[in-house]
Amino acid sequence: MEKFFIAANILLLLSLSFHVHGEVEAKLQCDIFKGSWVFDNSYPLYDSTKCPFIEKEFDCQKNGRTDKDYMKFRWQPSGCKLPRFNGVDFLKKLKGKRLMFVGDSLSLNQWQSLTCMLHVAVPEAKYTLERIGGLSKFEFPGYNASIMFFRNAFLVDITSEPNGRVLRLDSISSSKIWGGMDVLIFDSWHWWLHTGRKQPWDWIVHGNSRVKDMDRLSAYEKAMQTWAQWIDLHVDPTKTKVFFQGVSPDHASGQEIGSSRMKNSLNVSNAKTCIGQTQPLRNPRSPHPAEVILEKIIRAMLKPVYLLKITELSDLRIDGHPSVYGSGGHNSIDCSHWCLAGVPDTWNELLYAALVEN
Ligand SMILES: *[C@@H]1O[C@H](CO)[C@@H](O)[C@H](O)[C@H]1NC(C)=O
Ligand SMILES: *[C@@H]1O[C@H](CO)[C@@H](O)[C@H](O)[C@H]1NC(C)=O
Repeated sequence: MEKFFIAANILLLLSLSFHVHGEVEAKLQCDIFKGSWVFDNSYPLYDSTKCPFIEKEFDCQKNGRTDKDYMKFRWQPSGCKLPRFNGVDFLKKLKGKRLMFVGDSLSLNQWQSLTCMLHVAVPEAKYTLERIGGLSKFEFPGYNASIMFFRNAFLVDITSEPNGRVLRLDSISSSKIWGGMDVLIFDSWHWWLHTGRKQPWDWIVHGNSRVKDMDRLSAYEKAMQTWAQWIDLHVDPTKTKVFFQGVSPDHASGQEIGSSRMKNSLNVSNAKTCIGQTQPLRNPRSPHPAEVILEKIIRAMLKPVYLLKITELSDLRIDGHPSVYGSGGHNSIDCSHWCLAGVPDTWNELLYAALVEN
């Protein structure tokens, strides 16, 4: 049932999708998110030293990581083959178009991965990189293609008021920045867990209710419903393809995780920290509660939204985090983001598959 729904969504998307030229391409006949990681010596897809604009926090090799196996795993769906990522083809399909990632630093991670994948595909092509406030704009003038990242961790609004900062679960004004895009890839989750000094709001408002705090999963669900409503009302699917990056899993020791309720639902007792890990895990953990909410919301939407179901496959990749080779070194061990080259390259291979295959 669910598989059928997803397949139907892909077809809907692709029939309205980029013009596919050249030979008839193979159809995606399987659930590309079910499969396994296989060691493949032809990976990684790029050498991070050839990506001059890569941010320090993702550049694990430069930060001193010496093991390399984590870059050599390819995602292999059980029932079909993923197309090999073709950056030139991707850019041709993006000609005259604008693609935007909207979300938190996991979204930044995927955006950065894609810009590296595209740059190494056309190393001679001129590019520009510009940052204005929360907007990062990477452009290939020769292709008139724009690959952007807009930082907005909650998707909904935070407003500043005399008695504090208010997280507004039913207001989504930054949508004016996404308007008119050809491809949108959203993500939101990690910031919903922050408490104490990392929590960037003092109140939560929803409808007529104003509270100091609430169950974070419920807050997340309300905000994602606001997002879904906006998409259903405003997106024209003949112009804009909408994706949602599923929840990227952490492999931290649990101290970052919010309320004790969250601790139970995420089963932290199961989680190992990512330090020193050099190989993928064999078995994923139980479904992530935020992912379950996302799937439910997207299933009920009127407009087609393609969920990049990366949670389970990424959950196996305890070896893929920066760990002590992020921007904070041993002082700030990073088991949330991902080294580049690495796991987000696979997310982009899956995005590419969803965009080009029919
Ligand atoms: C470049 O693409 C934009 C849309 O993103 C379009 O409005 C513009 O006309 C294009 N410019 C050229 C020179 O093709
Ligand atoms: C958490 O995982 C442990 C070990 O696999 C298991 O025994 C326990 O029942 C799980 N707890 C919850 C709440 O799922």
